[in-house]
Amino acid sequence: MCGIFGYLGNKEALNILLDGLRSLEYRGYDSAGVAILNGSVTVLKTIGHVQCLVDKTKGEQFHGHLGIAHTRWATHGKVSEDNAHPHCSSSGRFVLVHNGIVENYAETGSFLRTKGYVFKGETDSEVLVNYIDYLVIFQGLTVKTALKKVMKVLLGAYAFVLMDEQEPGKIFAVRQMSPLVAGFSEGEVFLSSDTHALSKYAKRYFIMDNKSILVISGNAEPLLMNSDGVPLQVEYKELSNDSPGAGLEGYAHYMYKEIIEQPEIISGILKSGKDNFPKELSSFFRGSSHFNRIIILACGTSYHAGLVGKYLLEKYLRIPVSVEYAAEFRYRCPVVSPSDLVIGISQSGETADTLAAIRLAKGKGAFILSLCNVAESGMARESDATILLRAGTEIGVASTKSFTAQMVNLIQLTACIPFRDFPEFKTEELIDGLKSIPSKIKTIISREPHLIELAKKYSHHKHFLFLGRGFNYPIALEGALKLKEISYIHAEGYPASEMKHGPIALIDENFPVVAIACDAENRRKMISNIMEIKARGGIVIALIREGDTEITNIADEIIEIPPVQDALVPLLSVVPLQLFAYHIALSLGRDVDQPRNLAKSVTVE
Ligand code: M6R
Repeated sequence: MCGIFGYLGNKEALNILLDGLRSLEYRGYDSAGVAILNGSVTVLKTIGHVQCLVDKTKGEQFHGHLGIAHTRWATHGKVSEDNAHPHCSSSGRFVLVHNGIVENYAETGSFLRTKGYVFKGETDSEVLVNYIDYLVIFQGLTVKTALKKVMKVLLGAYAFVLMDEQEPGKIFAVRQMSPLVAGFSEGEVFLSSDTHALSKYAKRYFIMDNKSILVISGNAEPLLMNSDGVPLQVEYKELSNDSPGAGLEGYAHYMYKEIIEQPEIISGILKSGKDNFPKELSSFFRGSSHFNRIIILACGTSYHAGLVGKYLLEKYLRIPVSVEYAAEFRYRCPVVSPSDLVIGISQSGETADTLAAIRLAKGKGAFILSLCNVAESGMARESDATILLRAGTEIGVASTKSFTAQMVNLIQLTACIPFRDFPEFKTEELIDGLKSIPSKIKTIISREPHLIELAKKYSHHKHFLFLGRGFNYPIALEGALKLKEISYIHAEGYPASEMKHGPIALIDENFPVVAIACDAENRRKMISNIMEIKARGGIVIALIREGDTEITNIADEIIEIPPVQDALVPLLSVVPLQLFAYHIALSLGRDVDQPRNLAKSVTVE
């Protein structure tokens, strides 16, 4: 988490740094800060979003051609100005912005205190900058040697950019796991947590290797080296400055725009069809007719897409699939073998736990297929094959169009896996059915006024339960996640069958239950669950197939979904739940695109 941006060039640094931060704000928005080195260092920080920092810089004399900036998602230490970055060392010589976690910061901090260092805040980042200060000032190391030592001594996943008051023509960067990219244009260098933030400015870039140090001195060739100081080959790539879907285009919120874009995104994925199927995967299938298990690894909404994938792959291909939260997988002793196909699912492709989990599986010899939305992401680069989601840039913290894109790509993948001699169910039917999805989603969106009414009516409730069975069980989880993350209302998703094993105790006349009953196979069972809720006085908001009068007569509210085969139902049933959550959040006055405590890309464990 946290976005870092650095600039060294021939222009005024401030506006470039602030602009870079705006693009990186999806990585965290608890506080923001900027430092410019121009003879001496000037630092300005503030709690809150990047715009608060922009406002604070107005009227300030902030000139200089070298600077660093940061937007924070708090890990160590509360949200405060003292804990906001950039952090200066006690001597005032070094100033740094940092993304990631220094795991042994407490011991290192205690050691530094014995040497007289005093800390203003509680962050691991302040320990980091002071440790560099100590190595250079107390131990007499050069900055370059100090950085090598830092990488040996300080544990964790981190990236940082550093300025040294005594070397005003240089900027230093270190990457240990957390991402860091260097961009270049005529006489200008940019350092950034991602390539997207560079696209307006740089013509070419390279992604710093893991465990590397970069020293940039004015116009000289950048010096990239490993943690032993051995120079590394730099591989430049061209940067295109088109970022589709990155603007608000007249919409009030990115989340809303991204919900509305779903039909178009799905049509685009369908058009690319088999072109989106990586050749490395075809080779894997050709050489591995013996592979007999799939493990899906993901977090959050991507995990829910993975669950839909499991139901699909098992139904259509009769192959065992397990879906695991990436962090749970990596911190136990998972059984993985070279004959497993491991699928990592992630919008960002940078989620720390998912990235680490696929690395672990790769280390055990499994073939790694990633489904992710960002071509330059760590997951895309480290996997054996990647299916790009083609959802366009997703900015809203709540995943919406990336979720539907994940499901569509999983459906196409199911249809592309070229074997199983006994398909009871025909994958051609799936692909055929997909064609009608964009127009059916448009129909659902056209009924938004009804969802707005429902949102207004129910936004005062403190708790919601979402129930579904079969293909709609993952949608119950997703509906609850959407509601809680943007409205801060407590919501739980459950398999409807599990309700009577505990959650039913919660039901009373103040407890709305969203019952997703629009699939054919489980309809009867869902009706029984609805009756059980009604028998206890609960409120039922039912998602039903259009014209289902039986459920209409027993539910308090209904949301109609056009008919579609069960395996495709999640693509439709999730859409009204996204809109419902959005309108509840709006009516409660929440910050829909940047809800509290969250970040778009979760790059810490
Ligand atoms: O980038 P990823 O898909 O790996 O992100 C995983 C989760 O952090 C993400 O889906 C998160 O749960 C969203 N905020 C949900 O809307």
